[in-house]
Amino acid sequence: MKTIQMRTEIPGPKSRDLLARREAAIPRGPQLVTPIFAAKSEGVWIEDVDGNRYLDFAGGIGCLNVGHRHPLVTKALHEQVDRFLHLCFGVTPYESYIALAEKLNALAPISGQKKTMFINSGAEAVENAVKIARAYTKRPAVIAFEDAFHGRTLLTMTLTSKINPYKTGFAPFAPEVYRIPYAYCYRCSYSKTYPSCEVFCAKHLEDTFRRVVGAESVAAIIAEPVLGEGGFVVPPKEFFPVLREICNKYGIVLIADEVQSGIGRTGRFFAIEHFGVEPDLITTAKSLGGGLPIGGVTGRAEIMDAAIPGGLGSTFAGNPLACAAALASLGAIEKDGLLARSTAIGKRFVECVKGWQQKWSLIGEVRALGGMCAFELVRDRETREPAGAETKELAHYAYEHGLLTITAGTLGNVMRILVPLVISDAQFDEGMEVLEAGLAHVVEKKQTVVSHA
Ligand SMILES: Cc1ncc(COP(=O)(O)O)c(C=O)c1O
Repeated sequence: MKTIQMRTEIPGPKSRDLLARREAAIPRGPQLVTPIFAAKSEGVWIEDVDGNRYLDFAGGIGCLNVGHRHPLVTKALHEQVDRFLHLCFGVTPYESYIALAEKLNALAPISGQKKTMFINSGAEAVENAVKIARAYTKRPAVIAFEDAFHGRTLLTMTLTSKINPYKTGFAPFAPEVYRIPYAYCYRCSYSKTYPSCEVFCAKHLEDTFRRVVGAESVAAIIAEPVLGEGGFVVPPKEFFPVLREICNKYGIVLIADEVQSGIGRTGRFFAIEHFGVEPDLITTAKSLGGGLPIGGVTGRAEIMDAAIPGGLGSTFAGNPLACAAALASLGAIEKDGLLARSTAIGKRFVECVKGWQQKWSLIGEVRALGGMCAFELVRDRETREPAGAETKELAHYAYEHGLLTITAGTLGNVMRILVPLVISDAQFDEGMEVLEAGLAHVVEKKQTVVSHA
């Protein structure tokens, strides 16, 4: 039986009513990607209030690597509900927080003793990682990258690159944040070509230290091992080793922001493992909680201990329900073999989209690191003019035909796949068929417009 089942026009009557109530009661600031409202979900599907069933290729923006309501997660939650809810780890500690920290310490690709602390979200994880790096180095500055996304709080919005919508109207920004280009080879900021560039973008940091900010003022360099919101850009293998070398040379803390790329998404537990580099600090959130809000900072014990007692944390940080769900979700990744599954999904995706690329010039580049997959849409392969409107149209077609997707990229022209890793091959193919039909629809519409012009 097909997973996708469409029973009404989209949005259906109940969703339309809720949409009107949403508009009246909620400001326009919080994002609205699809005009449908959820009734229930399981595994890889979501059913809306009108009885339509969608295949979920968005996973709540990468929070559901183990799928919706994984049985291990719901079991752990039920058990926790019957024991205790909020206590505040700082006031009355409990074991699950410690067990989860131990688990992440064991998984982190960092040698020596490690420690982990928890907070409630990805942005908070990044905020705390920067605080810890500043406390450790006693330096103020942070270097972030073009096309980076690190969150929406004052500091993390400042670290984030994309202006509209994340920064528009929200100035002034936090001080001591500096930005350099990421290794986005398809659209190199220096108009160079890999590999002859010899990762000029990373090596150019030495120049940044002369012209923009002194190395002795820099506490941390923060980088996503694969750009998330920035368009699922996978840097060349030399990029992180060069950053690591420069951080070592100047005593700078290297923070790997794994909020989107971590917890098995790329076929390794942490995406940075693909690059053979040890970061000093790693931020996590999203899929860590298996559907519950929790974020973490894991890192070298010496650095993690730099902040004074009471300097870190928050009231709900490492909430018992979130810790229980996170422990269960890490168990589910292991039990269901989701790292291998992620790699297989990436392979299936690339094979399929490379085929589409042969017939449609609209697909400029196909990118994947395990199950962190995307393709970039362009109007012209030579000029690489971004096809933002076409990408939006493709996402629109997809949800109208039962497939939930999200786009990405500073230029808004990337279709990204954050499908729950528990998806079967048949379900994955079902979703890819919708995307293929959507691309055919977009291409046909474009040709009609051109021929009528
Ligand atoms: C790499 C990265 N860092 C930080 C964040 C912020 O996480 P949150 O939305 O949980 O605050 C995100 C969210 O998309 C992200 O992708």
